[in-house]
Amino acid sequence: MTTPTPWWRGAVGYQVYLRSFADADGDGIGDLVGVRQRLPHLAELGVDIVWITPCYPSPGADHGYDVSDYTDVALVFGGMAALDAVLADAHAAGMRVVLDLVPNHSSNRHPWFQRAVHDPTSPERDYYVWRHGSSDHPPNNWRSNFGGPAWTWEPSSEQWYLHRFLPEQPDLNWRNPAVHAEFDRILRFWFERGVDGFRIDVAHGLLVDEQFRDNPVAPMEVDDDVDPRGAFSIIEHVHDQDQPGVVDIYREWRRVAADHGAFLIGEVYLDDPAKVGRYVEDDALDAAFCFPALHTGWDAAAMRRALAPSVAAGRGRFAWPMSSHDDPRAGTRFGGGARGAERQLAYFTLLAALPGIPFLYQGDELGLENAVLPADQLADPVSVRHHGAPGRDGSRAPMLWEPGPGFGFTTGEPWLPFGSNRRPEHTVAAQTGVEGSILERTRRLLATRREATAMLAADDVEWLEVAPHVVGLRRGDMVVAVNVGGPDADLDLPRAAELVYTTRPGASVSGARLRLPTDVAVWCRLAQA
Ligand code: NOJ
Repeated sequence: MTTPTPWWRGAVGYQVYLRSFADADGDGIGDLVGVRQRLPHLAELGVDIVWITPCYPSPGADHGYDVSDYTDVALVFGGMAALDAVLADAHAAGMRVVLDLVPNHSSNRHPWFQRAVHDPTSPERDYYVWRHGSSDHPPNNWRSNFGGPAWTWEPSSEQWYLHRFLPEQPDLNWRNPAVHAEFDRILRFWFERGVDGFRIDVAHGLLVDEQFRDNPVAPMEVDDDVDPRGAFSIIEHVHDQDQPGVVDIYREWRRVAADHGAFLIGEVYLDDPAKVGRYVEDDALDAAFCFPALHTGWDAAAMRRALAPSVAAGRGRFAWPMSSHDDPRAGTRFGGGARGAERQLAYFTLLAALPGIPFLYQGDELGLENAVLPADQLADPVSVRHHGAPGRDGSRAPMLWEPGPGFGFTTGEPWLPFGSNRRPEHTVAAQTGVEGSILERTRRLLATRREATAMLAADDVEWLEVAPHVVGLRRGDMVVAVNVGGPDADLDLPRAAELVYTTRPGASVSGARLRLPTDVAVWCRLAQA
């Protein structure tokens, strides 16, 4: 018996950072009515899966990643009716909608945590992770992603609770079956409403060491207060993430998702692709984001190091992002300005050819780099609570739709400034129909991909050693190559080919010879052998 091909095979994903995508009611905050109005942009771009960041009621300590009700839509985002309308219109346009599930922690204002604190004998107490100890000494050396210890003292019950993010984001206790039952109910609720799947926040984090052992002490000192996320990243997280048993949670969810043909994609924020690969082994998650792909700079060797083992470990189930709301945009990583924009399109041309799901972050299709923002208007708690420490606002500035005062994003005051480096020519309106714009070239790439059926059907990739500064691969009948900042190159292809896509004029194929200028990426279809 053959298993049917899942609907997401061959799909292209797009991340909507909801607060900054499109504001329909003029309050300066993006909402679902705005998303609905802009769905045609996504359909014309060639998007199949739209992931929308959290839309639930939330006090907003971490901009929605602190959920106070898992089965409702916040009024600031338009309420449940607005989501229903997004689902209906997206489905009519042939797209699927994936919401963001935050199971690692709730808000401290969630009724579960409120009950847990105010009645330590309530069943909800054990929904969270509590430890005894003295008020001047946290139970172990675990750190928060956002700075400081991962523990906060709760004075009324004289215990510590665990939070690997803000103190307002207490960690849920996934060793308690009642928490499993709650999320089972939450998943069913949304699937029955027509939601097509979930992006799972902190998917690698749901369990921690049962004995709460210390992590190895970090070899070098990075000041936690100056760069909390940097300090967190150098710790060896032996006991506070990716623990045995965590993937089994997704095997349970798979059974719920399977009833609805729903899609589960994990934020498995681990560097080692082999570890991430375990989350997508049969009967667990459908897909997982590949973070090495969005950390690499404009460096051919680093790209090969990031991508080759990831392609092997992902076996067609990794998603390939180049930017996100948590990381610097690719345009910025690749040098910024017009050159950064060219390079990020070239990089996406490579990612779009890998087995799995290429994933755009809003604004990638415009070639945006990070916004330059005034220090006194930052909003990310990482920066606000640590004297302007490096945070995530630069990649979260609002989307640019049209030239003019609110850039078509809002008629009001945007919740986060657009950035002093934003220009009218960056907008969707200014790039639409303009030959050579990043937007039109991205559209053409995705249209070319849809037609590349032999390439999409091929599971394997062969990496080609053509030149040190060229990353090249062959998948099915397609050879894909990007010149990563080196001199113009003349390369031999395995046989005669046709140039089906180039990011820029200047590349050419003559017989089996490819001319590849600097910072250009191409797709070449090999002639039949
Ligand atoms: C990952 C999310 O992408 C990020 O924005 C958030 O702050 C943390 N998880 C905590 O939920």
